[in-house]
Amino acid sequence: MASQLLVRDVPEEIYTWIERERIKRLMTQKEFVHTILHDAYNGNVIQPSLPLDASSTNGSKSPEERIPFTFVDIFAGIGGFRIPLEKAGGKCLFSSEIDEFSKKTYKAWFDEIPSGDITQIAISDIPEHDLLAAGFPCQPFSLAGVSKRNSLRTQHGFKCLSQGTLFFTLATIIENKRPPIAFLENVKHLLSHDEGRTWEVIKGTLEDMDYKVFTKVIDGAKYVAQHRERIYLVCFDKHVFGENPTFEFPADPTETRPSIEDILEPNPDSRYTLSDHLWSYLQEYARRHKKKGNGFGFGLVDLKGQTRTLSARYFKDGSEILIPQEGKNPRRLTPKECARLMGFDEKYQNNIVVSDTQAYRQFGNAVVPKVIEAILGKILETARTHIEQRGLLLKDSNGRGRTHADAVLRASN
Ligand SMILES: C[S@@+](CC[C@H](N)C(=O)[O-])C[C@H]1O[C@@H](n2cnc3c(N)ncnc32)[C@H](O)[C@@H]1O
Repeated sequence: MASQLLVRDVPEEIYTWIERERIKRLMTQKEFVHTILHDAYNGNVIQPSLPLDASSTNGSKSPEERIPFTFVDIFAGIGGFRIPLEKAGGKCLFSSEIDEFSKKTYKAWFDEIPSGDITQIAISDIPEHDLLAAGFPCQPFSLAGVSKRNSLRTQHGFKCLSQGTLFFTLATIIENKRPPIAFLENVKHLLSHDEGRTWEVIKGTLEDMDYKVFTKVIDGAKYVAQHRERIYLVCFDKHVFGENPTFEFPADPTETRPSIEDILEPNPDSRYTLSDHLWSYLQEYARRHKKKGNGFGFGLVDLKGQTRTLSARYFKDGSEILIPQEGKNPRRLTPKECARLMGFDEKYQNNIVVSDTQAYRQFGNAVVPKVIEAILGKILETARTHIEQRGLLLKDSNGRGRTHADAVLRASN
């Protein structure tokens, strides 16, 4: 018969460590303490199962308030998701990005070269994770002739509709890996594409896979000096969080956001000033469209206001955001100013390792990290409440023989 061992007066910090580590391993306290004793008996020093240690990261939450979690960064771009996820204590286990220039920036910023084309990556090569982040490319699929919801009701309906699209690839990863949380982003236009059918397939697909999907269009202008309306999708696995997890998107921030004049460089290179030829062309183009009653034209910025959306094609003529200059033609933003306009910190602003053209494309494609940070705060609130109420949620990223089903089972016991 096993002897009993009762340990009193465990120092607070050791108790906290035991709790954190056993949650990561999806173990009860007793199982974990047994493991430590066995390991010590066999001369093994116990290592944390994850390199992640919430107390060693620098986010705004105190270590006790933060929960450790793992994530994957799909369609990673330059890591607009990764920055706030790491700041909050997340550990990135995998990233994928197809574009060589974006990979170059990603390597410079995170010291990691993302895996390439996600359609060519075996699902088994993607590690288990708690949160899947993806600003998936808006690659519309035509649903012409398909009645809206009907096709979704067929078995694997979405597969027929969206096979071959990047959203299909993403959905397949989610279906197979079942991350407790998926955090997705796209352009607002996704909602109206093909009279709403594309959106219906995307949302319906996630719901048909038993995810509770919360969505909101948020304008980045609440956080940075740029209008940037994007649709955000926060998806909770119902097998983990139940039918109706409590989640709310963040309220608008109260801090004053920077104005454009705050983000301008003092002496930008003359190459950013528009040539006489380009400036005349843009003015003529705007005149012609105005005559026809169209609002198209260049966006000469009010320095106290906010810019239009920085697009991936900004490198072409810069027409959507032009900075007025005394006695000179207007100029476009420098890449560093674009980094600031998107809200990337100084560390990143000062580490642009690609050409101007590539930098404009990369910033124009990126998410606003501050918006992600704000939404993530609310996601983690939901996760924290769940952990407190039901005990266990997070997966052991090292495997340890625990499947998702085990985790769910244990969570509900
Ligand atoms: C909308 S951007 C996402 C940007 C990212 N959220 C950021 O903050 O930088 C979509 C990204 O997906 C990448 N992409 C497109 N097709 C891909 C594929 N098949 N595999 C991996 N990445 C891909 C593009 O190169 C682009 O960087």
